[in-house]
Amino acid sequence: MGTPDSRRFLPENGETRAENSRPRVLQPAAGSWPAEAGVHYFRPVREDEICRMIAKVSGLVNLSDVAMSLASNLICRVAFGRRYDEDEFEKMSGWLDKVSGLLGRLRKNCKELDVFYEQLIDEHLDPARQKPAGRQDIIDLMIQLKDQNASSLDLSWDHIKALLMNLFVAGTDTVAAAVVWAMTGLMLNPAVMKKAQTEIRQFIGEKGQVDDDDIRNLPYLKAVVLETLRLYPPAPLLFRTQILDEDCVLDGYKIKPGTSVIINGWAIGRDPETWQDPEEFQPERFMTSNGGVVDVSAKTGEFEMIPFGGGRRGCPGMGMGLISAELALANLLYSFDWALPAAAPGSNVIDTDALPGLTTHKKNPLLLVATTPT
Ligand code: HEM
Repeated sequence: MGTPDSRRFLPENGETRAENSRPRVLQPAAGSWPAEAGVHYFRPVREDEICRMIAKVSGLVNLSDVAMSLASNLICRVAFGRRYDEDEFEKMSGWLDKVSGLLGRLRKNCKELDVFYEQLIDEHLDPARQKPAGRQDIIDLMIQLKDQNASSLDLSWDHIKALLMNLFVAGTDTVAAAVVWAMTGLMLNPAVMKKAQTEIRQFIGEKGQVDDDDIRNLPYLKAVVLETLRLYPPAPLLFRTQILDEDCVLDGYKIKPGTSVIINGWAIGRDPETWQDPEEFQPERFMTSNGGVVDVSAKTGEFEMIPFGGGRRGCPGMGMGLISAELALANLLYSFDWALPAAAPGSNVIDTDALPGLTTHKKNPLLLVATTPT
């Protein structure tokens, strides 16, 4: 499929009709969301969770678990306004596996999730509830939109639960997978790892932690994340329905109205007609001649790679997903040197096998040894 032609799925003026468009539920009316809302509103939450993650890392580490726990706590605090302890987290990641995995077991899990979201909403409706650090979360926002009738949709509690579920599933797995695949790519390419660590350590010096503001001064790190998303997109398959009234011709193929189409983002990111040496992990391809990093929207806008999808159905969490993955990776690289475990036979090989599922996770957990740099 010729990539630029994929745009035919969007009408010429960029507007889409009902089926492919997302109701603007999360677009609040003026004044209904804190003025500084957006990715940076949750900066303290992000930095606190990264601190907790770094404190837990020592010796032999299962990075797949570490990344999942970070991503899950991030989304729980941003969306639900609270953290969960290890036992509660185990249960939630079980739900996640099942929701994003086999559909057969969905019904039972949906019931449990329904109760879970109901309790969360009740907590938020309690007038005595103290907001953590006085900060609103996404449930507060949704309740406000419902109360004020400020959404384009007549929001019901079921809508709110469904949106929370969407956020939890879409925002947890993807960030965790991105961090794990980035570390996998770096372990397979030690020269790239060294270059990224040198950039971060030279810039941060003795400060002790990389924060949100530092990230914009770390172009090579950003390029590493983009290269990871090109080669290992966490959500590689996009689903669309042909919504035009007449046939649409793509690359010589006639596609009838109503046809469901699955777009293979993984193959687009590795297309040799677009990418030189597509199978190589080369963050340099995202660096500009003056040492900056290309704007991700330049690549995703032209459909050269689509790790966040595109158009009106594109990922609404792109900003938060990117900064979360960048910050986690930057701190892991700043705080530790990484090596393969030597002891267990067979454990000193890194593979890139992936599990089947909507989100592409590494099949075998990423086990690494972390040491503090001298
Ligand atoms: C590196 C991290 C992330 C990646 C790679 C990613 C990728 C994607 C992709 C490919 C889609 C489908 C887009 C399309 O069909 O055009 C999507 C949808 C979505 N994403 Fe993300 N995402 C990430 C992080 C997040 C985060 C942090 C959140 C929430 C805070 C989030 C919330 C959503 C939601 C709500 C949808 C829409 C789901 C739907 O339409 O049902 N994502 N994401």
